[in-house]
Amino acid sequence: MKIPSSKIDEILEASDIYEIINDVVPLKKMGNSFKGLCPFHSEKTPSFNVHPDKGFYHCFGCGTGGNVISFVMNYYNLPFPEAARFLADRYGVTIEYEGAEVSQTAKDIAALHEELVLDARKNLYSGIGKEALNYLKGRNFSDTLLEKFMVGYFPQKFDTEKYVRKYDKSVLLGSGLFKEGQYGMRLMFFDRVMIPVRGVTGRTIAFSGRTLTGQMPKYINSPETEIFKKRRVLFNLDLAKEHIRKKGHVLIVEGYFDVMRLYDKGFGNCVATMGTALTSEHVSLLKRFTDDIYMLYDGDEAGYNSALKSLDLFVAADSFPMVIFLPKEDDPDTFLDREGAEGFEALLASRKDLFVFTAETLIENSDDMNARLRNLERMKQMLTKVKSPYRKEHYAEKLAEIFNVGKEMLKKDIDLSAANNSLKIVSRRPVKNGRRPATYIYEREFIATLFKLPEDVALMQTENIMPEFFHDKILADIYKKVLDVLRDGDNISVLLCSPDVGSELSEAVIKMPDTDIYRLAAATREKLISNSVMDSLSKEIKSSDGGAKARELAIKRFEQAGRMMRKRNPED
Ligand code: UTP
Ligand code: MN
Repeated sequence: MKIPSSKIDEILEASDIYEIINDVVPLKKMGNSFKGLCPFHSEKTPSFNVHPDKGFYHCFGCGTGGNVISFVMNYYNLPFPEAARFLADRYGVTIEYEGAEVSQTAKDIAALHEELVLDARKNLYSGIGKEALNYLKGRNFSDTLLEKFMVGYFPQKFDTEKYVRKYDKSVLLGSGLFKEGQYGMRLMFFDRVMIPVRGVTGRTIAFSGRTLTGQMPKYINSPETEIFKKRRVLFNLDLAKEHIRKKGHVLIVEGYFDVMRLYDKGFGNCVATMGTALTSEHVSLLKRFTDDIYMLYDGDEAGYNSALKSLDLFVAADSFPMVIFLPKEDDPDTFLDREGAEGFEALLASRKDLFVFTAETLIENSDDMNARLRNLERMKQMLTKVKSPYRKEHYAEKLAEIFNVGKEMLKKDIDLSAANNSLKIVSRRPVKNGRRPATYIYEREFIATLFKLPEDVALMQTENIMPEFFHDKILADIYKKVLDVLRDGDNISVLLCSPDVGSELSEAVIKMPDTDIYRLAAATREKLISNSVMDSLSKEIKSSDGGAKARELAIKRFEQAGRMMRKRNPED
């Protein structure tokens, strides 16, 4: 369950970062801050700094850094909620969870969804839904099944009159399903089969609409709303729960129709992500019901690649799934429709442990000794993060077999590297010639100010600042995450708990003065904008074919540069 933002702030406030770190790393006072030997890499002279006044730690040796929650996560290898709870317990903060109180708007949005479901069902079985029903029948979906999933239809011309009369505008717009246009309110779906997406309690919280004609985009999903967060929702989990308990495992597939087909053929223990990759939140949601996850992937290059890519996420979530690959050209829906339940059982029997599958695939793709050792190193890194010593031992033996190296040697090596980089999770990214470009410095500074400002002010600061303005790719990615969090109204401090974000930003946050933060924010924002203007002028000059136009642009660029210089030295 999610810890409310206000609680996270309270935990951060209440926790004594000095005390928490000093418990495990002896610290010495140096002016306002404290220094010690970094617990995340081995060093002889202390470069690990703790700033209790700022609530941050940062190691100038290995680049690791963050706040007190991320320290607990890194040091004790705990996921975010457990690290937060650890601190809450220690500092006497009582955690209540969100969801206890539902706002009136959320209630109205829920009611609106229920009403739309019923209307769409009616449409499907009336004259206007004839083609949609034919389409579904043509795909071999029975009336019983369609009823089970409450599949319906939104026609080309949807009468919104009744809804406008009954619901407040804020509810219609807040649901994300209605838009206000030239001719009044209109529904975002037209001429689409409608599939309700239910939350874990069975309430409909979103819709997905599929075209009948194959026109793009094939599916349109509700936007994120107060009650619908894609990265936390698994399609069908409400119905799948009891089947997961009975069968002991869960099947994860990609599509809505895959889930419905599986359900129909006796595999109700299945869920689908909502057109996004599986997230750690999905995994922890599933862990409430089972530890046995079967991932179904397409049997093509893309399928193999997604499987390989997912290992990190699973190991980090302490989860060890099985993978199953479908024949090329199939998805679970087409496979089951053709081969039936028996064929599918046989396919399930071919499942492979993802860890082992990854190791085997890597070795197959290692042409020489160097590649083999590199890949072994990758798997070893993964292995050091496995918590259970028995599981670790089991995988160590598998790895030794697959990579054809001595078992005892490998085990000793893993113990050694685990001790050496004791819990080292983050490695600093290399800096070219030891210096960062100037753009990097203020891009990072801009993001750092967003963490210091009140969240509504921070959101205002991000207006018109696109991720594309950033020259540094990693910072651009972090900025995207910041935008997501701010727009969802979530707590931005949580981002600093993620090791990569924390390590990238902690230095800037520590160095930032506490006073004048608004001015600093405005100044860095200005720099970002000016520079993106310069960039686009330069691009235009390059793509123009010389002559008068180019000269005019060059003059503009020159003037812009002048404005920037004056801003930098306002006294002149
Ligand atoms: P697929 O393209 O594999 O479609 O997308 P599908 O599930 O087999 O659909 P059918 O059988 O052609 O009807 C897999 C999933 O990716 C998401 C949906 O969740 C879909 O079920 N998706 C796909 C979208 O959200 N939007 C799209 O335009 C396409
Ligand atoms: Mn399909």
